[in-house]
Amino acid sequence: MSLAGKRALITGGGRGIGRGITLALAAQGCHVAIHYARKRAEAKETAQAASGLGVQTALVRANLRQEAEARRMVEEAAGQLGGLDILVGNAASGVLKPAAELENKDWEWTVSVNVRSILAAAQTALPHMRRGGWGRIITITSPGSRRVFPQYSIIGISKAALEALTRYLAVELAAEGITANCVSPGLVVTGALDFFPMRAEMLDHAQRNTPAGRLVTPEDVGAVVAWLCSDAAAMVVGQTIEVDGGYGLKMLG
Ligand SMILES: NC(=O)c1ccc[n+]([C@@H]2O[C@H](COP(=O)([O-])OP(=O)(O)OC[C@H]3O[C@@H](n4cnc5c(N)ncnc54)[C@H](OP(=O)(O)O)[C@@H]3O)[C@@H](O)[C@H]2O)c1
Repeated sequence: MSLAGKRALITGGGRGIGRGITLALAAQGCHVAIHYARKRAEAKETAQAASGLGVQTALVRANLRQEAEARRMVEEAAGQLGGLDILVGNAASGVLKPAAELENKDWEWTVSVNVRSILAAAQTALPHMRRGGWGRIITITSPGSRRVFPQYSIIGISKAALEALTRYLAVELAAEGITANCVSPGLVVTGALDFFPMRAEMLDHAQRNTPAGRLVTPEDVGAVVAWLCSDAAAMVVGQTIEVDGGYGLKMLG
């Protein structure tokens, strides 16, 4: 499996799960553009680690709440890397609230960052992928798209929409050699968990109930994304692949 010479943009690629994805792609020889919103130092450190693997790197800043920013981000990444073959929509944001308390601004913010920006980025990336007759769009979803976690309502809704978007893109683009798939990680220890009031309980539950016996890491997710980008996965189209050590399957015991 080699992605030598391919060029990827990873949104939120500087830290957390995004960092695992960036380094997994770089390890396969893929040049990487790392997007960040605020945490430049982390993004820079990840870029240095990727450079150490012998690939070209770029840093692109964008607030993905704005659709125009998502489009500019893709053009900047493609400009710096000399083209774009792979888009990983990993960055996400949102408010934690029960559905009954959601306000319009919560919806607008969360759906803009988690879904609309990925559509805009994919649309902007397509001409670059079509030029090479090859492309990969990978979106990072979460189990909250189908299952119910306390306070996770609008993020879960946005992830369900993201999965549907990915399936539509997948069917529309498959004949052009461009695949689209989602990866759905289980609980991964990242900065994102710090916003959850039930962080300790969530981690304890996942630790005790993951059949594989340990939590998922950013590296586990990166490895699956890298495989989906490879030619070995050319016929995997529009799927949501759960990388959770079996956690989502277990009901008792
Ligand atoms: N952690 C988990 O347990 C888990 C489980 C399932 C799915 N996921 C999914 O995995 C993905 C990565 O999550 P993570 O846990 O690695 O999160 P994280 O460490 O909190 O990172 C979130 C990323 O999103 C970026 N971001 C946030 N708001 C943004 C905005 N308005 N515009 C542009 N970028 C923005 C951040 O950029 P800066 O670095 O510049 O702040 C950061 O890179 C997300 O899609 C998440 O839903 C996570």
